[in-house]
Amino acid sequence: MHRRLSIQESEARIPQSRIARVYDLNSRVYDIWGTLTESKARQRAIELAGITDGLDILEVAVGTGLAFREIVRLNPQGTNVGLDISEGMLSRARKRLQKAGSGNHTLQNGSAFELPAGGQTVDILFNNYMFDLMTPDDIDRAIREFGRVLKPDGRLVLVNMTKGEKHGSCIYERIYRIFPALMGGCRGVVLSERLRDHGFTVVTREYVQQMGFPSEVILATKGG
Ligand SMILES: C[S@@+](CC[C@H](N)C(=O)[O-])C[C@H]1O[C@@H](n2cnc3c(N)ncnc32)[C@H](O)[C@@H]1O
Repeated sequence: MHRRLSIQESEARIPQSRIARVYDLNSRVYDIWGTLTESKARQRAIELAGITDGLDILEVAVGTGLAFREIVRLNPQGTNVGLDISEGMLSRARKRLQKAGSGNHTLQNGSAFELPAGGQTVDILFNNYMFDLMTPDDIDRAIREFGRVLKPDGRLVLVNMTKGEKHGSCIYERIYRIFPALMGGCRGVVLSERLRDHGFTVVTREYVQQMGFPSEVILATKGG
């Protein structure tokens, strides 16, 4: 099951036990980072998901709700649940959704390792910029949990910091090596093979670079 990982991927320098605290602190400034360097990849993920109204959608690690606001807007008759382990991030998400007047949603504290959903109940599971801060063992644990809750024809949409493929991307890796908390604990990961190891079919994997920041956007399905 375990693939050989590069040094970069095998590192996760902020343990999960500290992540909620790090993001409680980062929540005050996260939207600046999240808009300047990640908005294109997040938007592409929403396009690839092909949301139609009336679906059961779960966003894990919803953060300040940058993607969730758009998800709820596209799925007003469906079920929209967003969860995160950081109360600081959730509180920003609540304010954002309230301001947007988006009614049909639930935002709650919860972990990717123990999702508040029954087996095979979710049509689309979104998860943006979370695996890039996890250890390989935790990544496997969360992917297994995602597989449990997704319907047999369900879609998994992932966005993560990835390894740079174009000029200008190496600066972020350097910052991570010196001061990982400044990067919110994120380093580049490449997840397609790992998803296949867990029985997912990778429909597409796209590379998006914004302000030099390298992201991968993946659409995967449980079945063929
Ligand atoms: C880099 S932020 C991304 C936030 C949001 N997905 C976005 O794209 O704007 C990472 C988020 O993952 C959350 N997170 C990390 N580990 C988690 C876990 N095990 N379960 C749920 N959320 C987690 C953090 O609290 C944080 O809000």
